[in-house]
Amino acid sequence: MIEAQYARFPLRQATRPVVHQGNVHLAGPDLAQPLAPPGLPQQQGKGRMRLQAAGEGRRERDRGRWKGSHDHPPGRGLGLGRKVCFRGLNPGQDVLGVGGETPPGIGELRAAGRPVEQRGPRLPLQCGELLGYGRGRVPERRGGGRDAAAARELPEQPEPAKIEHGIPVLPLAFGEAGLPVPPALREALSAATGRGAYGPVAGLASLRQAAAGYWARRGLPTEAERVVCGPGSKPLLFGLLLAIGGDVAVPKPSWVSYAAQAALLGTQPHFIATPPNEGGIPEPALLARTVKAARAAGREIRSVIVTLPDNPTGTLARPATMQRLCTAAAELDLIIISDEIYRDLMHDPTVPVPSPAIIAPDRTVVTTALSKSLALGGWRIGIARLPGGRHGDALRNRLLGIGSEIWSTPSGPIQQAAAYAFGEPEVLANRIAASGRLHARVARAVADRFVAAGAHVPTPQAAFYLYPDFGPIRDRLHRIHGIGTAADLSVLLLDRYGTGVLPGSAFGDDNPALRLRVATGLLYGTTDAEREQALAAEDPLILPWIASALARLEEVLADLTSSATAYRPGYWPR
Ligand SMILES: Cc1ncc(COP(=O)(O)O)c(C=O)c1O
Repeated sequence: MIEAQYARFPLRQATRPVVHQGNVHLAGPDLAQPLAPPGLPQQQGKGRMRLQAAGEGRRERDRGRWKGSHDHPPGRGLGLGRKVCFRGLNPGQDVLGVGGETPPGIGELRAAGRPVEQRGPRLPLQCGELLGYGRGRVPERRGGGRDAAAARELPEQPEPAKIEHGIPVLPLAFGEAGLPVPPALREALSAATGRGAYGPVAGLASLRQAAAGYWARRGLPTEAERVVCGPGSKPLLFGLLLAIGGDVAVPKPSWVSYAAQAALLGTQPHFIATPPNEGGIPEPALLARTVKAARAAGREIRSVIVTLPDNPTGTLARPATMQRLCTAAAELDLIIISDEIYRDLMHDPTVPVPSPAIIAPDRTVVTTALSKSLALGGWRIGIARLPGGRHGDALRNRLLGIGSEIWSTPSGPIQQAAAYAFGEPEVLANRIAASGRLHARVARAVADRFVAAGAHVPTPQAAFYLYPDFGPIRDRLHRIHGIGTAADLSVLLLDRYGTGVLPGSAFGDDNPALRLRVATGLLYGTTDAEREQALAAEDPLILPWIASALARLEEVLADLTSSATAYRPGYWPR
């Protein structure tokens, strides 16, 4: 049946993105036109899909919805009396995409007029690290030659920006692991620079072999032929969605790119709520109901994505829920895509990760990468483990066809270094274990601050994320600040307090919910030396720069939630 799906849903011609009045649409009659020979059933889809409501919250804010003790628009009064604008940020791996709501103003720090000079001594928590890119390294700002898109990318260098506008910045928006490249890996990469030739589309045999060993050590025996490598797991996920065809079920909330990729492909993401305190997995009974209803309405959901453990919530699905999901997937004939990019960053490494590839091996694809466990997002390498059997063969062939036309092969030197990494030498295994401990310690400390401020926070179990819910103090926040959505709250935190977070609505969460995605991976320091110290520290929380960030967060949350504390220019920083 799965194989038949591929035949029924052939590759389609690309669709054109159209921007109209701030919204992005995919348009064109080609949505309904398969590339493959005519006569096959036509791809579903309306041919037109509203993807984004960019700037909505900003417009609301501009209409003057801000009130309460802060009787000036956010952004005014900061930075020694100058107006500071925050806009236009491309938050990199968490680029807010189609399908979700773009949080307005999660963006580039831009001082109106000339930059505000830093006065007085430098704070232990340095100013302006929200973006992470080095000031003066953005050629566009200096009239330099690079294109606008490149100018909004994440840092080329670990050197942090120093956008000194008078308030310290808490960088809690990026899903970046924030750790230096281990020396052993630098050496492995520099030994591989001679690899100039194209390699196999599926990846070097040595990398596929190493990946097979990596999965076997996690209870997933794998043949090297079942491994497909790509330039990051993101393109592999896109390729998989394209290869499988049809609509996709995704957890609500879930990582921004799943829905965005589906929309780019002209298919529809179906958001399905997760069980309480279990992120990354659609509630199985709801999944079944949604798939049946969608099919009855003429839309064919063919795959479901799970994230183990999860971004944005930092939590892990329970084995019993995974069992039920696999049963539902079998009944509904769905392919399961299990994104396990964070699996090696469990805070308690003895907790097993319930991969659906164990329960439903014939219908599960697993993806992972080195971007998080070894903080190598900029190296761009990902791997996919395809299921065996005829169905798996068909999917693999399609994925390879797509890879061949889009990326040809992942970078040769990176693959060689990645083969070394997936071989898990002791030095790297220790490194990943140390980073897991650091993530756990800091994420929990940050979670504690949100809990103390009155938010409900599902206990973070993995990686460097938490997902506080301000629902319990919604009325108070509305009374003080006049805010009613997570987008409003994230704009307020950024504009007034220099605290960058992402609203849950960017991850498909319900709009009125006051949930935020908080990423802690950029708190470990601003230099490689500081970050190495954080990794090695018995108690990283007492390092001055981490202690300072936590203290600042306490101040921000205390001010945010206290109606007594009116904003006073010059109050921040002390
Ligand atoms: C859940 C999840 N999957 C996949 C990715 C993409 O990672 P990469 O393309 O670097 O492998 C990310 C990055 O933020 C992520 O959070």
